[in-house]
Amino acid sequence: WPVYAPYIAAINRLKKERNAVILAHNYQTPDIFHCVADIVGDSLQLAKEATKVDAEIIIQCGVHFMAETSKLLNPEKTILIPDMKAGCSLSESITGADVRLLRERYPGVPVVTYVNTSADVKAETDICCTSSNAVQVVESFGADTVLCIPDEYLAMNVAAQTDVKILTWKGHCEVHERFTAEELLAYKEADPEIEIIAHPECPREVVEIADYAGSTSGMINYVRDRRPPKVLLVTECSMASNIESEVPGVQFVKPCNLCPHMKRITLPKILDSLCEMKEEVLVDPAIADRARLAVERMVNLKH
Ligand code: 13P
Ligand code: SF4
Repeated sequence: WPVYAPYIAAINRLKKERNAVILAHNYQTPDIFHCVADIVGDSLQLAKEATKVDAEIIIQCGVHFMAETSKLLNPEKTILIPDMKAGCSLSESITGADVRLLRERYPGVPVVTYVNTSADVKAETDICCTSSNAVQVVESFGADTVLCIPDEYLAMNVAAQTDVKILTWKGHCEVHERFTAEELLAYKEADPEIEIIAHPECPREVVEIADYAGSTSGMINYVRDRRPPKVLLVTECSMASNIESEVPGVQFVKPCNLCPHMKRITLPKILDSLCEMKEEVLVDPAIADRARLAVERMVNLKH
């Protein structure tokens, strides 16, 4: 990408000078994913890697809740996000006050919160989960009933894999809720060779017809290991672009959907972030300890 080259060179130089590392989510564009990121991964991997970073500064290329999670796990480090407006529809769907009301309505029921939430929400919950460990986290209480919030579809997909009764919330990912079983079945009917790989934020009927469902890294590993000749990644568009060079025999079939929040992060903004040391992500000290506990419980869960 010749047009990106000066940005890539400047970011990689400045990163060293500033003693900064770049953590990038699997939905970042290929120029970020391949050329400037030090660590890439799904939400759980990024949270775990954040605890191992030696550098003083973390540039989080992803959305705000991911940067906040890094700050919770590294309170002494400077966490920068190249665009403070990079949000998430799931994170927007619920507040800490909502969780307090749920606790009143369902006294004694453990609360599992998806990491795609604000620190304010995490502070009100027992433990966090991601798409890669949600079933394990839900079952870790040994309880009959668990609140799994705010993603209704993730909760329904977890419920299909466990005997635990799952109560949930009406939050949805604006990217994954748009996929329908009808459109995917039409692809499969037109070409039965296509393997359908879906993220568990998709509606239940979409996951039901998928050949595999898992976190973004789970999906990448499936393609790397199995090399299906034709695959439909039912997720954000950058996923296919990021791995296609690694798996030359695999044909990636559309559709995909763009996450407008993830796409706010660009090379010029990353460079700006490093030059100006902005924008710093901070967590209100009144909630930080409780929110940290919920994330640490998840990170420390034995697999
Ligand atoms: P993963 O934890 O699977 O990377 O998912 C994060 C996310 O925001 C998916 O929309
Ligand atoms: Fe949030 Fe969906 Fe974007 Fe992931 S893809 S950051 S869940 S809006």
